[in-house]
Amino acid sequence: MAAMASANRDDTAFENADVLDLERTRNPHVAFGFGVHHCLGAQLARMELRVGLGALLTAFPHLAVHEQPSWRVGTLINGPSELSLSW
Ligand code: HEM
Repeated sequence: MAAMASANRDDTAFENADVLDLERTRNPHVAFGFGVHHCLGAQLARMELRVGLGALLTAFPHLAVHEQPSWRVGTLINGPSELSLSW
């Protein structure tokens, strides 16, 4: 089974692979899979994120991460266990 999370941080595929760069122009990620089973909801998910994050940043234009988050470890899906924000 391919580890897509690892593939998305492959430094032979991405420049500065470990950096969260939302403006990457060359971005051959496989977050939505690849090939015949490529996610059928990818365009809907992209649109929802664009609308949702756009609305959030319009409502809170100074939203910022206040402190470095602590991360959940040992789970399949990565993410912060807490996120302290200021706005
Ligand atoms: C950020 C949100 C999402 C992510 C990261 C995501 C990710 C993925 C990935 C990696 C696959 C491929 C799985 C595989 O290769 O076996 C997949 C397949 C699929 N996704 Fe998504 N997905 C998202 C949202 C959605 C949404 C919103 C829908 C539907 C409304 C959806 C429907 C599907 C379906 C039906 C498949 C199966 C396609 C197939 O096997 O032919 N996904 N998704």
